[in-house]
Amino acid sequence: MSLREEILRLKKEKNAVILAHYYQRPEIQEIADYVGDSLGLSQKAAETDADMIVFAGVHFMAETAKILSPNKIVVLPDLDAGCSLADSCPPESFGKFVAAHPDHIVVTYVNCSAEIKAMTDIVCTSSNALKIVNSIPKDQPIIFAPDKNLGKYVMQETGRDMLLWDGSCIVHEAFCIDKLLELHKQHPEAVIIAHPESEEHILKTASYVGSTAGMINYVKEHADRKFIVATEAGILHEMKKEVPNTVLIPAPAKEDNSCACSECGYMKINTLQKLHDCMLNESPKIEVSDAIREKALIPIQRMLDLSK
Ligand code: 13P
Ligand code: SF4
Repeated sequence: MSLREEILRLKKEKNAVILAHYYQRPEIQEIADYVGDSLGLSQKAAETDADMIVFAGVHFMAETAKILSPNKIVVLPDLDAGCSLADSCPPESFGKFVAAHPDHIVVTYVNCSAEIKAMTDIVCTSSNALKIVNSIPKDQPIIFAPDKNLGKYVMQETGRDMLLWDGSCIVHEAFCIDKLLELHKQHPEAVIIAHPESEEHILKTASYVGSTAGMINYVKEHADRKFIVATEAGILHEMKKEVPNTVLIPAPAKEDNSCACSECGYMKINTLQKLHDCMLNESPKIEVSDAIREKALIPIQRMLDLSK
């Protein structure tokens, strides 16, 4: 049996659902039951009736699935699939920061640990951050964590002043503005689209800023155009499927690398073999203590309710 066939057999045997993020390797996206952005993936994790959730993504995503579905087995192909942004917000220092500003509501981007979510009032993703912040009364001070780039973008779009945590994503901070402007000079007809984790100067050049799902929809709706895409390169797999005749150019990174684009090493640590093995062995399993889970569920559920 091929690896692919064996995964499909295990899926039936274990009544498993495979959820994959758009940054996963193409062969993983192809075998998944659902491929989506962070919001779509949490919605699927909340509503599935499978016994096992195989999370082809990074740790905080699988952890969110476990918080939403505590009675299901949640497995991640490789426990080292972390996130630089989540790592930039350690619970102890964040706890002190929150305690120092007791009058602030805490909004956190889903790219953070369960411990951080347990200290949060409302979670958001890049697709609903504006809506979530706009739902908070205007005179209410807000802490926004951990992504300062998304935070600055939300401040600019909503006109709200927020206290930002100083975190960021190594992948989205790797884009080079000079190379991007040079590339745009070579393709002046191309539309720049960017993920809001990118730095302010990159976002200023973009005609569209949004989540991975938002970027894919935008390209679908403007398929007659040419695009420069500023996010992790895995997204190009789904984009090419949706708009096979559209020219898609990955935004250039500061460091020259083999594909001249940015790849997330954490996302790419998952392989088809590891996906198979985690289903077979039901390990590595994601566990969250009841105490953290109960607290972390509240702000996630608030986000899901506000996103219906
Ligand atoms: P999306 O929610 O837009 O898919 O973003 C997830 C992520 O990790 C971006 O770096
Ligand atoms: Fe984290 Fe950035 Fe990788 Fe997304 S792309 S998982 S934010 S390190």
